[in-house]
Amino acid sequence: MTSKYLRQEFLSFFEKRGHKIVPSSSLLPSDPSVLFTTAGMQQFKPYYLGEKSPYGSNVVSCQKCFRTSDVEEVGDESHLTFLEMLGNFSFGGYFKEEAIKSAYDFLFKELKLPLAEAVFTVFEGNENVPEDKESVEIWKKLGVPEDKIQKKGKEDNFWGPTGEEGPCGPTTEIHLKGIEVWNLVFNEYYQDKNKKLTPLSQRGVDTGMGLERLAMIAQGGNSVFETDLFSPIINEITGENEKAKRIIADHVKGSIFLIQEGVLPSNVERGYVLRRVLRRAIRYGKLLNLPKNFLIPLAQKAIEIYNDIYPELRSNESDIVTVIQNEEEKFEKTLEDGLKQFEKGLDAFELYTTYGFPLELTIELAKEKGIKIDVEGFNKKFKEHQEISRAGAEKKFVGGLADHSEKTIKYHTAAHLMLAALREVLGPEIYQKGSNITAERLRFDFNYPQKLSEEQIRKVEELVNQKIKEDLAVNCQEMTLKEAKEKGAMGVFEEKYGEKVKVYSIGEFSKEICGGPHVKMTSELGNFKITKEESSGAGIRRIRAVLE
Ligand code: GLY
Repeated sequence: MTSKYLRQEFLSFFEKRGHKIVPSSSLLPSDPSVLFTTAGMQQFKPYYLGEKSPYGSNVVSCQKCFRTSDVEEVGDESHLTFLEMLGNFSFGGYFKEEAIKSAYDFLFKELKLPLAEAVFTVFEGNENVPEDKESVEIWKKLGVPEDKIQKKGKEDNFWGPTGEEGPCGPTTEIHLKGIEVWNLVFNEYYQDKNKKLTPLSQRGVDTGMGLERLAMIAQGGNSVFETDLFSPIINEITGENEKAKRIIADHVKGSIFLIQEGVLPSNVERGYVLRRVLRRAIRYGKLLNLPKNFLIPLAQKAIEIYNDIYPELRSNESDIVTVIQNEEEKFEKTLEDGLKQFEKGLDAFELYTTYGFPLELTIELAKEKGIKIDVEGFNKKFKEHQEISRAGAEKKFVGGLADHSEKTIKYHTAAHLMLAALREVLGPEIYQKGSNITAERLRFDFNYPQKLSEEQIRKVEELVNQKIKEDLAVNCQEMTLKEAKEKGAMGVFEEKYGEKVKVYSIGEFSKEICGGPHVKMTSELGNFKITKEESSGAGIRRIRAVLE
C-alpha cells in the first residue's frame, strides 16, 4: 500500500461517512502562541468552541505538521519533525462510539492491518477528569479482548491544548508494533492559560494518525524511514550510521517544507528552527563524510516524493535549493572556524555569539568528546547579552523614522498598510525583512519564495487603496512587549526594546510595534501604486511603491 493510496483511502473513507474533506492549512498558523502547526485540529480550533463551522460538523484532513518538540527524538523508529497527520474531526456531531468504530473499521476492515497485534489504551482518570470507562466498553463491544486494553495516565492519554489555551480531553490510542499509530481525542474540556479545565458546552472529536507511521505498518517497515515517504532520500545517503542517515533525511524534508512556506534561516523564532535543522543535518553529513552540498540532491529527492501531493514544492524547487545551498555554505565556513575554536576550549556561549553554533549543536559535539557543557552558565550569559543589546535596539526603535518630513511620514504609514495587505493576500507567514523610505518612494523587503503574480500585486495595491479610502484612524498605544504580542502586533519580538513599546494600529487592519511617527487618518495618503516587484536575495522579494 503506497503512501499515496493510504492518504487517499483515509480521506475517501471518511468522506463516505459524511465528512467534508478540508485541505491542509499552512505550517505557519495564525495563533501567535505557537510557532508551527503541530496537529490537524489547529485550523478547526474555533469550531470546538461553538463557532459555526463553514464545512459542517464533520471534517477530515491530511495536515502538514512540524513538531520541534520531537527534534531530539528524530532518528528512532517513529519520531519526525515534518509529518502529515491524517485526522477526522467532529464539532458537536458524533462522539466516542462512532469515532472508535470508524477507526476500527478503517484500520482492520478497510486496510486489513493485523488486529491481533494491536494494543489499545484509554485514560485511567485523575482528580479532575473521570476514568474513560465508556471507551473500554466500546472497544470490548467491537471484540477487543480486555487484556489488550491498557489504562494510562495524563502523560499518555490526555491531549491538548495546542498553544496557550484551547480544547483538550482524554484520548484512546491504537498501537501497532509498539508504536502509537492513531490517537483519538475526545474534546470535552477547555484549558485556560492557568491550566484550569472547564467542561465545553459542546463535545468534540479530534483524531491524529501520522501518515508515516501508518505507512510503516502498512508497508511492513521497521521504522518510518523504511517507507516510500523516506526511502528515496535515505537510499541516496551513503554510510553506515543509520541514525545519522535518518536525521539527515528528516531534517532535509522538514527544511524544504519550511522554506516553501516562506521561512528563511535566521537566529530567531521560525528562522532559527530552520537554521537549526539544516545545520544539524549538515553536521551529521560531516559525520558520514558526505561531500559538500550533499543536501541539494537530497532536497530534490524529497521534493520528488511529494510531486503529486504538493506540486508547489516542485515549482519553487530552484528557490528552495538556493536557500539550502546558501545556508550550507554559510555554515561550512562557520563550522570550520568554530570547530577549531572548540578544540581549543572555547565555551558554548562564545561559540554561539562568534560562530553561530546553536547550543544544542555544541552539546552534541561535546557529548561526542565526553565534555560537559555548562548550560546554566550559557543561559546566564545569554540573558546578560540580551540586556546589553537592549539599549542599542531601543535607540534604533524610538527613532522609527529618521526623516520626519510630511511626505516620508505618509510613506511610513503606507508601509504598515502594505505589510498587512501582503499578509492578507499572500499569507500570515509574510514578515518584513527591511524597508527604506524617502520622500519620493517606499522600498520594502519581505519573505516570499517566488515572484508575485500580476494578480497578487493588483490585489495588494487594491487592498491598500481600499484601506486609504476607508479613512481609518491611526492610533498609538504604549504597552509591554508581552501585551503587544498577545494583541497580535507585528514586530521583532525576540529583541527587547525596553519595558514599553509603542504599538501603532490602523483601524482593525494593521497592528505593528513601531517608533512612529505616522499620519492621523489613512485618507491623508492619497493613491498608492506599486511601481516594481523584484527579487532581493534568495526567498526575499522587494517592492517599490509611490503615493500619488
Ligand atoms: N490532535 C491529536 C493528535 O495530534 O495526536
